[in-house]
Amino acid sequence: MTTTDVSDIPFNRTYVAANELDHLGRSLLQGSTSGDGPCSRRAGALLRAVTGAAHVLLTPSCTHALEMSALLLDLRPGDEVIMPSFTFVSMANAYALRGAVPVFVDCRPDTLNVDERLLEEAVTDRTRAVVVVHYAGVACELEMIGKVCERHGLALVEDNAHGLGASYRGRPLGSFGVMAAQSFHDTKNVQCGEGGALLVNDAGLVTRAEIIREKGTDRSRFFRGQVDKYRWVDVGSSYLLSDVLAAQLTAQLESFGEIQARRHAVWNAYHEGLAEWAARNGVSRPTVPDGCEHPAHIYHLLLPDLANRQAFIAHLAGRGVRAVFHYQPLHAAPAGVRHGRTAPGGCPVTEDVADRLVRLPLFADLTEADVARVLDAARTYEVG
Ligand SMILES: Cc1ncc(COP(=O)(O)O)c(C=O)c1O
Repeated sequence: MTTTDVSDIPFNRTYVAANELDHLGRSLLQGSTSGDGPCSRRAGALLRAVTGAAHVLLTPSCTHALEMSALLLDLRPGDEVIMPSFTFVSMANAYALRGAVPVFVDCRPDTLNVDERLLEEAVTDRTRAVVVVHYAGVACELEMIGKVCERHGLALVEDNAHGLGASYRGRPLGSFGVMAAQSFHDTKNVQCGEGGALLVNDAGLVTRAEIIREKGTDRSRFFRGQVDKYRWVDVGSSYLLSDVLAAQLTAQLESFGEIQARRHAVWNAYHEGLAEWAARNGVSRPTVPDGCEHPAHIYHLLLPDLANRQAFIAHLAGRGVRAVFHYQPLHAAPAGVRHGRTAPGGCPVTEDVADRLVRLPLFADLTEADVARVLDAARTYEVG
């Protein structure tokens, strides 16, 4: 069957929040659109409220926020940074760009987060940091990860691209690492096309973070009247978000409750609606451990094997439903082999789940009828 009478359900569609056009219009008329303007200050305050972070620096992307974290860690060539293989490429790039060696660790088969039991074995005398991603915004096992970092004097950095608004044992994700990186790319729950933020939880890093973000100058202090001119004081780059994009972000953050309620309704409908079908077909639904509040960022399924995953995606596409796969193992990628190292034991779970994972459409204005169509399409697939 192919769909001709109704339009396809895309994998993602950006949600236009109430007030978004107003905010954008006002930002264009305010006489200045560069970074750290009034809209950036409002977005920063809203982000501090959601994440509990004391210091929020808006960036052009999560990738840039991760690059800033690598500069702030003062990594030297040959230093090692432990990270999952099952993550987005920006994490590895950020540290490889500084000459550091990404050390790839396998993930857990349930949450797909880095397997905390494998971290200690990956530590060497060159290890400087552990960087984690909370896949789908479901928290990593942060207590054990924190203990490993403490025992070995390692910095913990969170890639919280998926986890805005999520928590671990009641505490917001993004507040556990010395730094955390957020994404506001248009696939994220809250978005401004391209955007990000660095949350700085270690107060000792704030001044240097501001300098690195302002081309290595003390311009932020100059604008606050703390110095009478600004000068080149360190290495840096231009990591500011335009105030126009911050205006869009502000509107989205003001509608965060509404966005999250809509996304959770979709996530819950998928989870309930697929329970029986998944059990019958040997398909795994997402695992959310006790103590983790997830943000309804991704709804993913694990099919029994690659052939069924591909056939399932094609089956959905034939019914007008666009589903997609996700990360490919970094440790086995050409640049992963060139710049990184794989921790003892390899990453067999990552290799397995990367082949079997599929993400269903999930966005805030997916209608009940759309959800019903996705469910019908999924439930007519029988694992072969
Ligand atoms: C875990 C993770 N980190 C970082 C990024 C990069 O985000 P950005 O596009 O904002 O640089 C992504 C992109 O989807 C991601 O999934």
